[in-house]
Amino acid sequence: MKIDTLIVSANELVTMDTYGGRVPLRGSKMQDIGLVENGAVAISGQEIVAFGETHDLLSELEIDGDTRIIDAKGKTVTPGLVDPHTHPVFAGTREKEFAMRIEGKSYMEIAAAGGGILNTSRLTRQMSIDRMIANGSKYLARMITHGTTTLEAKSGYGLSTESELAMLQSIKYLDQTEKLDLVPTFLGAHEIPEEYRDGRADEYVELVIEEMLPFVAKKELAKFCDVFCEAGVFDIEQTRKICLAAKKLGLGIKLHADEIKPIGGAELGVELGAVSVDHLVEVSPEGIEAIASSNTVAVLLPGTSLFLGKGKFAPARDLIDAGAVVALATDFNPGSSPTTNLPLIMSLACTAMRMTPKEVWPAVTLDAAFAVGLGERIGSITIGKQADLIIWDAPNHSIVPYFYGESLAEMVIKKGKIIWRK
Ligand code: NIG
Ligand code: FE
Repeated sequence: MKIDTLIVSANELVTMDTYGGRVPLRGSKMQDIGLVENGAVAISGQEIVAFGETHDLLSELEIDGDTRIIDAKGKTVTPGLVDPHTHPVFAGTREKEFAMRIEGKSYMEIAAAGGGILNTSRLTRQMSIDRMIANGSKYLARMITHGTTTLEAKSGYGLSTESELAMLQSIKYLDQTEKLDLVPTFLGAHEIPEEYRDGRADEYVELVIEEMLPFVAKKELAKFCDVFCEAGVFDIEQTRKICLAAKKLGLGIKLHADEIKPIGGAELGVELGAVSVDHLVEVSPEGIEAIASSNTVAVLLPGTSLFLGKGKFAPARDLIDAGAVVALATDFNPGSSPTTNLPLIMSLACTAMRMTPKEVWPAVTLDAAFAVGLGERIGSITIGKQADLIIWDAPNHSIVPYFYGESLAEMVIKKGKIIWRK
């Protein structure tokens, strides 16, 4: 076999391959991140074909003059990061609401007064697809510098059939043209649009079910359907209706669940067989139990808690100790979490949610891959998986969340190719 690239002498290789890389690491197993000292990884084409201790690999493999050797002495090598919850296509910014919150207004008060998601929606509806793509591309370029190689990307600022489809088309275009992979999620039920606010929320739910979803499914514009299931937005019954319709059309389910009020979003997600339930700041003990006894991934977004100034974070410890699969995401969006920096989210998970510097790694690689339905292909350094790898300017895995707010990614490899270097 021809080895195209060989990374050698990594101080630490974080493989996540402890259990073969084909099942998520849950509960206490999140500590078993598969460390190899003085590690090496061999790439052929787009795939990982071997990994292990450097001396072993050098003696086993046939290396010729064409093999690119990358010396990772003193560095840490990990799988590429997967950001499993983002809203990267939108118009404008919401720094005025940021100031309003500092002065004491809550996220839901601002939303009720026509700000929030509707504010971004007004601007996004007027945006051309070309501008959506250009704007999204700018933010994706920032994500790469932090080590993200795959992200989930939601629509949800169009809130009309035409504009939601435009958002999904721009996400599809970005996936095809950018160096990162995007997993598209339809979030038509992100907010009740202005023109349905005269008590016609159920009519909007009908529009999502009867018109938007069939279009999205027919044109294969999304892999998942998501709903902002929250008191004052879409209630449990409306959410269930939308999700059942989406499932019938072959879409997977993700939910914004139990962020502000514990209304049973997590339990509903598990009942529906959702691939993930996200936010969970207010999840109930029953919700935690339900998640822990299922394959649904709990996607936690501590950046959102920080940026909304809530002082309250999702119960990561309770979830992990109950045996749940836990992932972390930026929730990148213009309102509640304008950061593209996933390593910063790892730091926050450690300090604010008491996840260990080991547990945060599966949460942004293997378990995050399962949260977007790609656990079989990415998220670990496993033979046969896609060669998405990061070389960090860090001697061990703990140093990445330790230097919080920094960007220690030094080289980003996607499908076997170097796509970015410092
Ligand atoms: O995940 N909570 C709902 N949706 C987004 C916020 C979107 C916005 O404020 O623009 C979130 O935090
Ligand atoms: Fe979100």
